[in-house]
Amino acid sequence: GRGPLPALLQLLLLAGPGLAAAAPTAPPRFNVSLDVAAELRWLPVLRSYDRELLRAAVVQIIGDRVPTWVHALMGKVVLELERLLPQPFTGEIRGMCRFLNLSLADCLLVNLAYESSAFCTSIVAQDSRGQIYHGRNLDYPYGDTLRKLTVDVQFLKNGQVAFTGTTFVGYVGLWTGQSPHKFTVSGDERDKGWWWENAIAALFQRHSPISWLIRTTLSESENFEAAVFRLAKTPLIADVYYIVGGTSSQEGVVITRNRGGPADIWPLDPLNGAWFRVETNYDHWKPAPKHDDRRTPTIKALNATGQAHLSLEALFQVLSVVPVYNNYTLYTTVMSAASPDKYMTRIRNPS
Ligand SMILES: *[C@@H]1O[C@H](CO)[C@@H](O)[C@H](O)[C@H]1NC(C)=O
Ligand SMILES: *[C@@H]1O[C@H](CO)[C@@H](O)[C@H](O)[C@H]1NC(C)=O
Ligand SMILES: *[C@@H]1O[C@H](CO)[C@@H](O)[C@H](O)[C@H]1NC(C)=O
Ligand SMILES: *[C@@H]1O[C@H](CO)[C@@H](O)[C@H](O)[C@H]1NC(C)=O
Repeated sequence: GRGPLPALLQLLLLAGPGLAAAAPTAPPRFNVSLDVAAELRWLPVLRSYDRELLRAAVVQIIGDRVPTWVHALMGKVVLELERLLPQPFTGEIRGMCRFLNLSLADCLLVNLAYESSAFCTSIVAQDSRGQIYHGRNLDYPYGDTLRKLTVDVQFLKNGQVAFTGTTFVGYVGLWTGQSPHKFTVSGDERDKGWWWENAIAALFQRHSPISWLIRTTLSESENFEAAVFRLAKTPLIADVYYIVGGTSSQEGVVITRNRGGPADIWPLDPLNGAWFRVETNYDHWKPAPKHDDRRTPTIKALNATGQAHLSLEALFQVLSVVPVYNNYTLYTTVMSAASPDKYMTRIRNPS
């Protein structure tokens, strides 16, 4: 037999039993050119989507998640805020908003929404040969809407890929991204409550939205060390965990952020056996809460994998272990800045 059946079986075997069973799908990948004016550069992406789906997504997220008083306040202060907030973000938001015929206040609010119900897991790890790997699960409600809007974006400068990220159409910040041959970054929520109150006050002090700082860092920082410095020090509108991977041995860190600066810096320490760091949504120096312990199963799965067997595929499998992987998991990304072409996102729980 040289018929089609053996060929198909061979393909299935190559894919591996885990991948064949879970059938996660790749999101669309777009180029967004930073050489094009901010107001115009996302329009080719928007044109690939149904305009009503995009409008409905914005309306749904605002209606369900933004308190009425915030919505009313934003309507009053949006023009003043737009002058304070950094480019190219406001220009991009304005351009998309005009295309979708939505108010600037609504588009800005969607771009600032930071959920107290978002859960995430990030891992940075080093294999026995000193290669650095970085993976993340992004867990969030509104799955059915956001899964349809998840995209990998290659941001081009002078026609070349300057950096890559994973986001939702209409959302200009990045929670996951890679600067090729330099570093990778992911962000996990660190909730302190009173989010809108604190965030709006901080915006007026020109503090950066969390996901915008990830994108600015990917765009501007020259190397791992510069990226860690920028992510640790830049004033933010809320607390967060930033996880950063580099290209050489020992370049991996979890930065626990307060709004004003770093609360803690937790690097890999492979010479002393700490070949991975796991961050979910709780300070690493405190025990994970019993009702939401995704940290212990992640560590167990990494221990079972072993440093010598670490790879992007192995990391994907770790991020597929229940409850690290759960019903809210929107996407999984695995990446390694030293091998930028291997950047891989898969939509999870596709309906
Ligand atoms: C844009 O929205 C405004 C206000 O909701 C509405 O009056 C107008 O008809 C809309 N235009 C288009 C082209 O949909
Ligand atoms: C995206 O840009 C890269 C770099 O210029 C290019 O190689 C690739 O073909 C582009 N992809 C699409 C879909 O246009
Ligand atoms: C993982 O392995 C380390 C080193 O052997 C051990 O100290 C730790 O208890 C293990 N953790 C889990 C959750 O299995
Ligand atoms: C998802 O939810 C269903 C129904 O509530 C439950 O049976 C299942 O175990 C959940 N799956 C995961 C991966 O948590």
